[in-house]
This record gives sequence, C-alpha cells and structure tokens, in this order.
Amino acid sequence: MPRAIISPSVLASDFGQLTAECKRMIKGGAEWLHMDVMDGHFVPNITMGAPILACVSKGVPGIFMDCHMMVAEPEKWVNDIADAGGALYCFHLEATSEPLSVIKAIRARNMKVGVAISPDTPSAAITDEIAEAADMLLVMTVYPGRGGQKFLDRCVPKVAELRARFPDKDIEVDGGVGPKTIDACAHAGSNVIVAGTAIFNAPNAEEVIATLKATVNT
Ligand code: DX5
Ligand code: ZN
Repeated sequence: MPRAIISPSVLASDFGQLTAECKRMIKGGAEWLHMDVMDGHFVPNITMGAPILACVSKGVPGIFMDCHMMVAEPEKWVNDIADAGGALYCFHLEATSEPLSVIKAIRARNMKVGVAISPDTPSAAITDEIAEAADMLLVMTVYPGRGGQKFLDRCVPKVAELRARFPDKDIEVDGGVGPKTIDACAHAGSNVIVAGTAIFNAPNAEEVIATLKATVNT
C-alpha cells in the first residue's frame, strides 16, 4: 500500500486564521492540507474559492493543497485553481459526463488528479480507464456538503474494492474520519486520510495526526 498521508480539512479551522492554522497542521505532521471548495450548486453550501487558496499558497510556502472540488462544472475551475497554487484537483464523478476530458485539462495544468465518489455512487463507476488516468481516488464517507457529519460505515467496502483493483493508487477517505473510525478505513486500504473536526477540535492536533498515521502504517 502507498505511504500514509494525512490531509486535515481546513473547513473545520478558524478561517480568520487560515494560514496560521495550515502552518500549525504542517508543524503537527500533516503532509497535505485538504481544501473543500463548494459552489452552492453541486452542494448547497459555499465555502472558498481560488482567491482564498491563492492567499494560502502565498502565506504557506511549499504547502500541498489537496483541492476537493464539490462543484457542478469541474472543468470550469481548473485554470483558476492551478493559478492559485493547487497541487491536486479532485473532482466528483457525479458532476461530469466527460471525466476523461476533465482529467486531461487538469494534467495540462500540471496538477495531480483526484476522482471522488459520493456515498450513493458504486466503486464500479470508477472504470479502469478513469482510475489509471488518475493519481488518487476519493471515497466519501459522508454526503459532501458540510463538516462534522457521522461516518457512514456502508462506504467502507468501496475502499476495499478499489484497493483490490488498484494496489498502488492513493485512496483517500473523507468525512467523519478520526481516531474512532480510522481502523476501518486503514484496514480497507485507504492511505490518504482527511479529517476536519477530529483534528481541529482536538486539544492536541499533533497527537491525532500521529494516531491516524500510525494506524495506516501498521
Ligand atoms: C465534507 C467535506 C469534508 C469535511 C470533513 O463535504 O468534503 O472534507 O470537511 O470534515 P469532518 O472530518 O469533520 O467530517
Ligand atoms: Zn472534502
């Protein structure tokens, strides 16, 4: 299995202190920062977009922004996110009928490619062709749209199905993940771990990051 990567979701942070919060996470052992971009169409909420990501990348040199694009037209934001310093552009399979052309556009801007599936989308929707063109597959373990929701156990088998098909691919889980749910995720084969409230609301973020990482690596 590929190496463990912890990607704290800044949605649970104090947006007024965003760059400081990102630095705190990196200092605490996080490899990536998970940036939840919501457009009010694909999901009801609106969070942040390219201008904010550009400030973060300027304020936190070397940051790896794992951009989770919960947007209705994924092809529309590729250039803006690339210009803002996005390192990985993860779009939802449910949001497009042309996933391969979205992937091509992301590659053309030298970002890594992620493909996400929501809880009601089966793992088989990720065809071999799509998976092979992507760097990372994201299995949502809550319905996309807001932080702090309850982990959906029924999504875990999809992680195992994808890990069996793609032994070397990065597989990310996102939603309700924390010390209580990491065992199931790690056992099923996910190696990229997103956690928002479990990390930011903890008295000691560094300790939570270390626990999540150790569980994936064992
Ligand atoms: C949900 C977002 C998640 C969320 C995770 O739509 O994609 O990244 O912020 O937050 P927690 O870990 O609190 O469920
Ligand atoms: Zn997310």
